[in-house]
Amino acid sequence: MYSAEQTRNLQNLTSSLLKKVTAQNVSKSDIKDMQAVLRFHEYRYYIINDPLISDFEYDSIYKELEKLEAENPSLITPDSPTQRVAKGLTKDFPTVQHLVPMLSLENSYNADDLIDWDRKARELTGLDNIEYCVEPKFDGASISLIYENDFFVRGATRGDGAEGDDITTNIKQIRSVPLSAKFSEYGVQQIEIRGEVLMTKKNFKKYNDQLAEQNLPPLANPRNAAAGTLRIKDPKEVSRRNLEAFLYHVSYYTNIDAHAKLNNLLNTHSGSLEMLWNLGFRSPEKEKKVVKGIQAVIDHCHSFEEQRDDLPYEIDGMVIKVNDFALQDEMGMTTHHPRWAIAFKFKARQATTKLRAVEFQVGRTGAITPVAKLEPVSIGGVTVSSISVHNEDYIKEKDLKIGDTVLIERAGDVIPQIVKSLPELRNGDEKKIYFPKHCPVCKSELAREEDEAVWRCINIECPAQVVERIIHFASKDAMDIRSFGDANVRKFFELGFLKDIPGIYNLPFDKISELDGFGEKSISNLKSAIEASKQQPLHRLIYALGIRYIGETTAKVLANAVTYLPDFKNFSLEDLQNLEDIGPKVAGSIHKFFLLHDNIKMLRQLEALGLNLRNDKSANIVEGNLNGQTFLFTGTLTQLKRSEAEEMVEKTGGKLLSGVSSKLNYLVVGEDAGSKLEKAKKIPAIKILTENEFLQLVKPQ
Ligand code: IVH
Repeated sequence: MYSAEQTRNLQNLTSSLLKKVTAQNVSKSDIKDMQAVLRFHEYRYYIINDPLISDFEYDSIYKELEKLEAENPSLITPDSPTQRVAKGLTKDFPTVQHLVPMLSLENSYNADDLIDWDRKARELTGLDNIEYCVEPKFDGASISLIYENDFFVRGATRGDGAEGDDITTNIKQIRSVPLSAKFSEYGVQQIEIRGEVLMTKKNFKKYNDQLAEQNLPPLANPRNAAAGTLRIKDPKEVSRRNLEAFLYHVSYYTNIDAHAKLNNLLNTHSGSLEMLWNLGFRSPEKEKKVVKGIQAVIDHCHSFEEQRDDLPYEIDGMVIKVNDFALQDEMGMTTHHPRWAIAFKFKARQATTKLRAVEFQVGRTGAITPVAKLEPVSIGGVTVSSISVHNEDYIKEKDLKIGDTVLIERAGDVIPQIVKSLPELRNGDEKKIYFPKHCPVCKSELAREEDEAVWRCINIECPAQVVERIIHFASKDAMDIRSFGDANVRKFFELGFLKDIPGIYNLPFDKISELDGFGEKSISNLKSAIEASKQQPLHRLIYALGIRYIGETTAKVLANAVTYLPDFKNFSLEDLQNLEDIGPKVAGSIHKFFLLHDNIKMLRQLEALGLNLRNDKSANIVEGNLNGQTFLFTGTLTQLKRSEAEEMVEKTGGKLLSGVSSKLNYLVVGEDAGSKLEKAKKIPAIKILTENEFLQLVKPQ
């Protein structure tokens, strides 16, 4: 797409624009350059995954361009990077006709199916050996895009294959879809291309984590997340979700001049992928393989299946296409699928089974979680017999009934989820699922907060909650007491050997040694694991306490904010909210925990038993806004001397680091920042700040 020379020129242009932006010196005459530079960096970031500038630098040029364009509207082109942003909400998605119907694909599941298909293809064409193009079968939502005279003009969903929904505005939010592309260089006037919109595994996880934070049930797979996002009527939200688009099929095009000799890339499918790649699209140019004969196809499919879990996005198989377009035309299509292509489906990660019963479990925060008991079913080698159905609203939304046939999915490393029930298979014997009014363990009445989907047992003495709190305390990411998992905790609790968290450090080993399965070796292992846990750092202990909303990251922030854990009882809500990333909800929860005398008593007990309640690191931290946060400066600062800035950090309780590593919290970027910035961009936990943002942060509140 960009030659080495163009890349160099655009990078130089970027540097000079960044200087002008910092000096507040950009003007109307820079608009065109700014557009070109931003387009270039979108390509580096979204298509080839090799950014050359930081998000912050991109944003600073973008913001200036937005300002200049507002002052000079006549200079706005439809493919300016600012034109992706839509104002307000989408009213509805009008129905539009595809230029060519979007057909489906025939499926195959094993080598024999492919051998049969190849035999038919050879019979049909009279050829001995066919050239195929093999590429991933992306597992997302299909789209069709139209470009006219080099501009993106329309994006649509598949719909029923003949007509789909016009989602042009939402497609513009996908930064890997170019708003313009020089199809004219290939002699093309109008073109319809097909592809798949995806959410990468990483973004999907992030999205599900956000849902979990809001107590909302997760989505079953990235495909549903992508398809759902395309239908959102708020383009800003679509943009936030960071979708990606792979374009893999040219379904239709017209020539600029009826007699124009077309570029020969448009003679084959692999050539069309190359053309799309050259024009800045994320086509499977790097993933495709052109081979002769079906055996090579089969080998490639198998080797790709092995890499499936290492890819950053989900694929559910491979697609095999006859490479030569003239041959494709000769072979034609049925009403359902083209004869020149076939999907090779990988081992299914979906299965149907029966929902036999729903049990209600009490978690450590008292949350009641309904768990569906299923007829055991194997999905991709793992047997699934029970699956969380999250909460009452989720059961209603998925229309679940006992006795239903349900479709379940295990997408990569996502915990299995119910995708949907299949009401069409009901016989009338299915039973409604009733949510209990009382705690299934301690029988106290359940309560549901206004803005929450979760019913809770609010009796903190509830034995189920106590056991779950102990299990959490000992778990791997908390105090990591090996050989003290679920089963042992439950057993000791039931036998009365263990009543609360401090009890872990006072277990009656004389009695335990009389139990079956507790020989000398296992007792000694358990004893040393318990002993070792006393040395765990403070942040692990904080996380282990199981305070609501306190995950591992917040636990670290808290651990850095005090020298002695019980001191939190002196923190006001406001003090807590002044800590990094702690909002009112989280602050409220911490405050409540440390107000309870019983909790402080438990902490003192733990201390007497030898646990560490102090944060050694914070001993030398000055109290202040930055509370042990780490900083590094790079580039030339314009408002402060480097030494002044460093002094500010130390005065307000922060620390200075000499290099970029995962220990760094903030990199403050001045002019002409170089390799440190590049390195920091690769570590997501590092926040990159401008000098102004830094000053905001250290300003006394
Ligand atoms: S070609 C006329 N190539 O799979 C042929 N489809 O199950 C058009 N899909 O509807 C399809 N990756 O949404 C093609 N590399 C790929 C694909 C792909 C995913 C989707 C597409 C299609 C569905 C069929």
